[in-house]
Amino acid sequence: MSVVIANIGTLVTNDPSLGYGVLGEIASAAIVLDQGRVAWVGDSSAAPAADEHIDAGGHAVIPGFVDSHAHLLFAGDRSAEFAARMRGEKYTAGGINATVTATRAATDEELESNMLSLVGEMTRSGITTWETKSGYGLTPGDEARALAIASRHTSETTFLGAHVVPTEYAKDSDAYVSLILEQMLDAVAPSVKWIDVFCDRGAFDVDQARVILTAGISKGMQPRLHANQLANVGAVQLAVELGCASADHCTHLDSSDIDALAGSATVATLLPGAEFSTRAAYPDARRLLDAGATVALATDCNPGSSFTTSMPFCIALAIRDMHFTPEEALWAATMGAAQALRRSDVGRLSPGSRADLVVLNAPSYLHLGYRPGVDMIHSVMKAGSMIYKGIA
Ligand code: NIG
Ligand code: FE
Repeated sequence: MSVVIANIGTLVTNDPSLGYGVLGEIASAAIVLDQGRVAWVGDSSAAPAADEHIDAGGHAVIPGFVDSHAHLLFAGDRSAEFAARMRGEKYTAGGINATVTATRAATDEELESNMLSLVGEMTRSGITTWETKSGYGLTPGDEARALAIASRHTSETTFLGAHVVPTEYAKDSDAYVSLILEQMLDAVAPSVKWIDVFCDRGAFDVDQARVILTAGISKGMQPRLHANQLANVGAVQLAVELGCASADHCTHLDSSDIDALAGSATVATLLPGAEFSTRAAYPDARRLLDAGATVALATDCNPGSSFTTSMPFCIALAIRDMHFTPEEALWAATMGAAQALRRSDVGRLSPGSRADLVVLNAPSYLHLGYRPGVDMIHSVMKAGSMIYKGIA
């Protein structure tokens, strides 16, 4: 069945050949959806007939957000750690082990229901494609079960067994790396697309990360990397060296890191929720953008450093505190993040793409940054089906 959505205030296509600017904006637009795909976009007055007609009432329509970085497979609560940070304590990688204990103790049903409740929040914030990492099990069995649960709900699954060294291996991190190489990779392989390592101070060093990622690649996994969140340990250079789809966080960057990212196909995925919630300095997004690096924005939803599922909040932070233009921020949360997942079917609204879209309670996407903290999501469609209708 085909659907036409007409009387759209501004339609963002992310295809510059279809409209104005880098976002390919069309004013007074319509979009036709058929069989879960976009069939046509253009001026509302020229819209072809369809089986169903929806009047957008002058609201803006944008591509569904793509969340290319989240950690949704966990149990437990670390709100006290957040409160301690707001009193002045520093964020360290070690906090992850608190979540590991709670996650190991949870049943499969609890893990799945915790994950789906966060996915529900994501949907209500306009996210239509989401990635999730493992990384709070840290045994072959616990990592495999988490990823098996995730793979029932998303194709974007990431093995992050190298998140932190679990306490039982505290005195011998190389033995834990051996466990990953010799047992975990095979245990998780049926359920994963990606492999990731937290390459940072207090987690894994560049040599360990190189060995783990290379072994994952040899088993058919595609690499991405948590790079330089807490210190510049050389992780961005490693991400580029290994052809990672994305180097994530990039909080600590030097000029050679910026040049390396700008000269590569590795996307710099920035996670402003993490700097906000750990009260850290933001990465130098302006230098990355001006150098021509491809930049994505994602939520980094996790119980320690960034417990948010709101992409509009991340966009508002990127604009206000990281000096993105509103156009750059919306592009990064849609097309940029799609590229970070090496996906060409999502993140845009042009003929042939998946019909994933958000109707905003506003005439223009500018209101995402202009009205911070206000729910601007009117309704959300995924593959042409309505998956959320707000109260406005
Ligand atoms: O991306 N940096 C590593 N992993 C998460 C935080 C994990 C945690 O604190 O539980 C992140 O910020
Ligand atoms: Fe993360």
